Amino acid sequence: MVKDQFLNDSHQSQIFFRKVRYDDCDQLLEWANDPVTRKNSFNTELIEKKTHSQWLKLKLEDPNTIFLLFYLENNVPLGQVRIVKSEYVNGISVTVNPEKRGNGYGGKILTLAIEYYYKRWCFDPIVAYIKPSNNSSLKVFEAVGFINVGRTHFKGFPCIKLIKYKNE
Ligand SMILES: CC(C)(COP(=O)(O)OP(=O)(O)OC[C@H]1O[C@@H](n2cnc3c(N)ncnc32)[C@H](O)[C@@H]1OP(=O)(O)O)[C@@H](O)C(=O)NCCC(=O)NCCS
Repeated sequence: MVKDQFLNDSHQSQIFFRKVRYDDCDQLLEWANDPVTRKNSFNTELIEKKTHSQWLKLKLEDPNTIFLLFYLENNVPLGQVRIVKSEYVNGISVTVNPEKRGNGYGGKILTLAIEYYYKRWCFDPIVAYIKPSNNSSLKVFEAVGFINVGRTHFKGFPCIKLIKYKNE
């Protein structure tokens, strides 16, 4: 169990995290199907439970995926971060529990996940592809040190590419 304390922030709250487990399936599906998350995803269709559980099984078996679940005291679920290492690009995605958005948690869980990633793997850089309309996400990634390198296409969609190197 890993614990982090943010004693200087206004919430005075502790953030905990652990690896995602299969029994997080319903929680992750609920966040994935939240309307804002779907709108900000490249595939905007609602995700079926069966498709999601098959996808989660594959992710949990994948040695190149770091998948972390974050929560507050009393097991209040806070969000998830997934980092996938590959030969071509190390991709990252984040979701904050819809009830906890707009409180600065996105950057905190990204920072914790990136620290965890760099302690295990040193493969640089980490890349995020964000829809140009997803302003809160663009702000959060830039706030934790990602550099906006401009517009590109990902999975056929226009998006903004952001890159983070370990020592920047
Ligand atoms: C993108 C996301 C991770 C940001 O996390 P967050 O904890 O809400 O981030 P913050 O609280 O730091 O807010 C980010 C900015 O959005 C603004 N914001 C205002 N109201 C908000 C709301 N209801 N929800 C989210 N952001 C809001 C914040 O004020 C902040 O701007 P500022 O830095 O100028 O103050 C979160 O909104 C989310 O899970 N979105 C859906 C999934 C998604 O888009 N993921 C990213 C694709 S990888």
